[in-house]
Amino acid sequence: MAQQTRTIETDCLEQWTKQYRGESSKGKCAAYIPALKEADPTQLGICVMGPDGQISRAGNYDAPFTLQSISKVISFLAACTHHGIANVLEQVDVEPTGDAFDSMVRLEMHKPGRPFNPMINAGAITVSSLLQGNGVQEKFLSFQDMVERMTGRKHQINEEVYRSEWQTANRNRSLAYYLAATGFLACPVEDALDVYIQQCSLEVTAEDIAKIGLILAHDGYDPIRKEQLFGKELARVTKALMVTCGMYNASGNFAAFVGVPAKSGVSGGIMAAVPPRGRSRELPFAGGCGIGVYGPAIDQYGNSVAGVALLKHMASAWDLTIY
Ligand code: DON
Repeated sequence: MAQQTRTIETDCLEQWTKQYRGESSKGKCAAYIPALKEADPTQLGICVMGPDGQISRAGNYDAPFTLQSISKVISFLAACTHHGIANVLEQVDVEPTGDAFDSMVRLEMHKPGRPFNPMINAGAITVSSLLQGNGVQEKFLSFQDMVERMTGRKHQINEEVYRSEWQTANRNRSLAYYLAATGFLACPVEDALDVYIQQCSLEVTAEDIAKIGLILAHDGYDPIRKEQLFGKELARVTKALMVTCGMYNASGNFAAFVGVPAKSGVSGGIMAAVPPRGRSRELPFAGGCGIGVYGPAIDQYGNSVAGVALLKHMASAWDLTIY
């Protein structure tokens, strides 16, 4: 784990984490994946990482959690790196839905049933089926490698969460069968589902997703290791998807009151990418940053309640918005 130097930014994060922890009582841990219900709902942690390696963190920043839907950003990056953006977008569109993340209503209403975007479950299952390799193991490895290239460490699946989701995945299973019927699945149904659930079960910390957010903020360039990991165009398409679809049917509210590309997961993680802000060199993290938040009590949209409240405060105080 990188070293943290005590800064004004860290002091602010510690104060705000204390201030917003109580917001978690307005939400609940996800229960439809039974293992996620076991988390302590009062946790709230944050890690912010700047391009020079500056790190500020507070609260439960070192608590491990599973990526869940945050993995959809990474599988999209991996699939596009392999096939090219245009080829992936033939199988999945880039339009927001305004529906819940696991909704299936639009698949049948809009022929031929191409999923609306890679951030909803239907689109993400299509993307998982497109990952490089033959069979579950190879496809999952190409996902896991993409995460490792960005965070610099190998991550493992949380087996309990994986099993819990596999056993209760009837809705995603039905989405996958529907996608296969309409020709939007590139591998057998059970394989696509298995890869998808494995990627959702990968265990990370707030610091890991802050690092991925930082790379996206810098258009695919890792400013710490000084390496271009994927192309600028891919980074921009991905950030546009995060802005329009990343917080699901709360994306408009998040864009209005936080104003940065972000992606949530039902385990309570939020990953955000704050591009460099030319407005003032005096602003905290003016050179851009990645933010990782963890707060497992989620709202009706599947977003961390305390996490969103903390980000709203922070965005206003530090003028983070891209608009
Ligand atoms: O497929 C699911 O339902 C979960 N594995 C992931 C959903 C999710 O994280 C939605 N996010 N807010």
